[in-house]
Amino acid sequence: MKDQHPRSFEEILELDVPIFEVQAWWGSTKHLGGQKATNELLALCRVGEQTKLLDVGCGVGITSCYTAKKYHCCVTGVDISSNMIYRARERAEKEKVQNIVQFETGSALNLPFPDNTFDAVIAESVLTFIGDKKRALQECLRVAKPGGYIGINEASWLKEPSSREMINHLSIVIGDEAEILSPEEWCNIFEEVHLREITVERFLFGGATRAYMASISQIGGKYIPRIFGRFFLAYVRYPAFRRYLRKILLSIPKDLFVYLGYGIYVGRKSTFFNF
Ligand SMILES: C[S@@+](CC[C@H](N)C(=O)[O-])C[C@H]1O[C@@H](n2cnc3c(N)ncnc32)[C@H](O)[C@@H]1O
Repeated sequence: MKDQHPRSFEEILELDVPIFEVQAWWGSTKHLGGQKATNELLALCRVGEQTKLLDVGCGVGITSCYTAKKYHCCVTGVDISSNMIYRARERAEKEKVQNIVQFETGSALNLPFPDNTFDAVIAESVLTFIGDKKRALQECLRVAKPGGYIGINEASWLKEPSSREMINHLSIVIGDEAEILSPEEWCNIFEEVHLREITVERFLFGGATRAYMASISQIGGKYIPRIFGRFFLAYVRYPAFRRYLRKILLSIPKDLFVYLGYGIYVGRKSTFFNF
């Protein structure tokens, strides 16, 4: 897939589920738990200086660049959106890690890498949005080296959602193909694809304010003025954007954060795996 310059904001707002393209446009993505969760995930996947890491659904490259800078290891980020990849490359240059981080456009369902390539494969808030989660995990396994780590951080129901409002809100924000699972369901898929030494950590979201503060600290202070500038510009200039935001805000159920948390799930590919 060829990378392209970000498309116009009017075109983006006409998509059925514009959330990720809107985020690529203003230059930020997020996952639940922010950098604290990323550190936890990297530690559980034993990431260090020698690790060759793949960040699936890397968005604008926040974790890829952060990890390369922290561990001086080689990181590859892949995302289905070429606009995300455009932003990720911008970020790698700003962070001066372009020599050890590379980004490619590609789908988690058909990763553009050979078998047995990476020591660790992570995905943060990505598999939730993919219908065929088992296939995506099998792809992560395929490209991981025997004995390599697969780690994901995904939204997880901590209590069975009871209200129709909650389902309606999520369908507005993330679309109907996306599906949030419970920790038990995530573990079942890990077992189905024969991951070993499975570790699970589950967390409460901690409320909206905490979640947004975690995201802001993860994005990085120096990026905030530009992101807010783009957001403000879009808000003033595009009535369709104002309608979109209003629709999201009005649909948020009061008890969302009682039900919704996130989980970190890590497993290892068997050393006998042969693709
Ligand atoms: C919630 S964002 C998270 C981005 C990043 N991991 C982070 O934590 O900031 C989800 C990302 O997954 C990407 N994505 C969705 N479906 C995908 C797929 N099938 N293959 C690869 N990336 C995908 C989206 O384009 C988006 O960048």
